[in-house]
Amino acid sequence: MSKNREKDKSPARKETILSGAQPTGALHIGNLEGALRNWVNLQEDYWMFLCIVDWHALTAAFNDTKEMKSNIFEMAIDFLAAGLDPDKCAIFIQSEVKEHAELHLIFSMLITVPTLTRLPTYQEKKDSLDSYGFLGYPVLQAADICLYNAHKVPVGKDQEKHIWLAADLAKRFNSIYRKTLNEPEALLREIPLILGSDNRKMSKSYDNHIPLAFTEKQTEKRLRSFYTDPEKLRQGDSGHPEKCPVFLLHRVYTEDPDNEIAPSCKSGKLGCVDCKMILNKNLNNALQPIRDKRVELQKTPDFVWDVLKMGGDRARTRAEIVMEKVRSAMKTNYRSKGK
Ligand code: TRP
Repeated sequence: MSKNREKDKSPARKETILSGAQPTGALHIGNLEGALRNWVNLQEDYWMFLCIVDWHALTAAFNDTKEMKSNIFEMAIDFLAAGLDPDKCAIFIQSEVKEHAELHLIFSMLITVPTLTRLPTYQEKKDSLDSYGFLGYPVLQAADICLYNAHKVPVGKDQEKHIWLAADLAKRFNSIYRKTLNEPEALLREIPLILGSDNRKMSKSYDNHIPLAFTEKQTEKRLRSFYTDPEKLRQGDSGHPEKCPVFLLHRVYTEDPDNEIAPSCKSGKLGCVDCKMILNKNLNNALQPIRDKRVELQKTPDFVWDVLKMGGDRARTRAEIVMEKVRSAMKTNYRSKGK
């Protein structure tokens, strides 16, 4: 019996996962398929912390904070509507757990400026964003992760270097003081490619996205505006599904796109408008349960804020334990007994 128990995912044996998301407001289907669905699966098998990183968002939006509160709220609603369960996953606001700032400060001593300036994420934006805070963005991210002693961090490939940096910081801390922190690993996953209406990456900032919050009407209008194969101008022309962002969406939302859609697109039998309307039906079907839940949650804002508060309390409990270990390893817990 005890052997079986060991195999069980009993809570004490679960590993910890942490991920973070900047509060950009309502999420879109790219976020849903790229991150949210994965998190919803992971919450079953791990201790999960999901941090809405408002301090990270400040690096770019320090002078424009009026949307922050509603962005946090909308994002939390999308998390819950997509199936994240507050009993299984602590969803919380970074700035409500002050220990993030404390560990960030300590980590900032353990890393050199050139290590940070070399990072591609810094290089890309340094001309428009050269603040001290922005330079430290990945250091704060490392603190987010190590503060919970997370083992795994589900992120996109673009974030991989930041997770390496977090692992380096944990390692450095352990070697200077005492083994205290886990060295976290990125949890990368194959995700479906989803492009926006203009054939670029789907993003709120390009306004080419399909928010989860869209109504069926809005979804249909957005789909009608989608870029399609420029060589297929009218029904009868043969199309190239492999070059078409609408077909990419069929891959996610249509049961058997290779037989149902691709051949008739190629032969010219299926016109682009009809093709989009098939997708419209399937996409709306897939999103309906999320949308219904969204509408419900909109009506109970207190519940949503309570979820965030509870999540913050759970996160803080863990963070305080790890910070105590950090201070103790550093011998900076001056009020404790002993030398
Ligand atoms: N930098 C991440 C992004 O842009 C957001 C983030 C902040 C994060 N802290 C994190 C992701 C900790 C994973 C773990 O998407």
